Amino acid sequence: MSVINWRPLNRVEPAAFGRPLLVGRPNVLRREEFLARVEDILDRAWLTNNGPYVQEFEARIASLVGARQCVAVANGTLAIEIAARALELEGEVICPAFTFVATAHALKWCGLSPVFCDIDPKTRCIDPAQAERLITSRTSGLVGVHVWGTPCDTEALGELADAYGLRVLYDAAHAFGCSRQGQMIGTFGDAETFSFHATKFVNAIEGGAIVTDDDDLAERARLMRSFGQASPDRVVALGTNAKLNEISAAMGLASLDAMDEIIEANHRNYVCYREALHGLPGITVAEHDERERHNYQYVAILVDPAKAGVDRDDVLAALKARDVHARPYFWPGCHQAAPYRLDLTANRAPLPVTERVASQALCLPTGPTVSTDDIRRVTDVIRDAVEACRPQRVAVGDAW
Ligand SMILES: Cc1ncc(COP(=O)(O)O)c(C=O)c1O
Repeated sequence: MSVINWRPLNRVEPAAFGRPLLVGRPNVLRREEFLARVEDILDRAWLTNNGPYVQEFEARIASLVGARQCVAVANGTLAIEIAARALELEGEVICPAFTFVATAHALKWCGLSPVFCDIDPKTRCIDPAQAERLITSRTSGLVGVHVWGTPCDTEALGELADAYGLRVLYDAAHAFGCSRQGQMIGTFGDAETFSFHATKFVNAIEGGAIVTDDDDLAERARLMRSFGQASPDRVVALGTNAKLNEISAAMGLASLDAMDEIIEANHRNYVCYREALHGLPGITVAEHDERERHNYQYVAILVDPAKAGVDRDDVLAALKARDVHARPYFWPGCHQAAPYRLDLTANRAPLPVTERVASQALCLPTGPTVSTDDIRRVTDVIRDAVEACRPQRVAVGDAW
């Protein structure tokens, strides 16, 4: 899913449009601090295997989110896999289909059966009412995804878990640095997982983490990420190799150093998009609660074709023609991906909200390198696309 090589090769950039703009361009800040740490890593020749920078990265994440434990791993997908195994999930696990396919894949890769649940139209996160209807005697857990950093209804999911004896895991790949009712994401459910992939606002090039207040769970996860070895001659559990390396941790630390600056730029961009698109028929900017902490790393719009006169793909194409590479996110829903499409366990329930939101959602470029002029360029294209297709005024007054 990454767009690391964002600069088109062997191509003359269309000067008339300005530089290409794209979703997921990595934030590269604090270069000197990163390079100084790399020198240090090379001098010490401690490149991986729970090195000092990995330990510092874990300590800073745990303290930032207020969790007792942080186990850093090689990426966000492995974080979900290891958390699922450390939680001893089995049988069926209820999760949304409106997520990046890694959520479902990680569960399936562990031999679990994902069961797709619809989303709440307000939060775009898993709908607890439908989740309850999907619980069977084979269900062992609920996996919520804090889509675009908007938290799941953690109370409702917690109540379900208590009532039915289930474990709750949150895929918080989008929600590092966000809060729900003043409580930081990373402290809900039995465990939460983060991604620090290059496209995330805080990145370790590739990286991930499991955060939890459960010391035993963290201990099991630590063993699993390193072959289940308690010491070089003692294997005490089934494990894999999910270790984060020192260079990635150094990048993660540099990124954490710049975190406030990135959030400030993301927030400025979000406000700018919101104002520029305000009142445009059929275009809704996904709003965030300004009383909470938020990373604003995704600026998502929903294009309602009945009101806008154009659909999401028309807007996407109009933007692409001006070298703006927005992303339908997430499209298609996981339930339509090849490994799940014909799976009757996974596809037990209708997912009308998922299908509507997946067909309307579009994420727009943001981050510290995106200026207010860039945003004006993007929003002018969207405005032109919508206004060109609006029905002509047919009556006097303001009626359309
Ligand atoms: C919601 C969600 N879950 C999981 C992942 C997987 O993270 P990673 O790419 O670090 O493996 C991503 C990555 O983009 C994601 O968006």
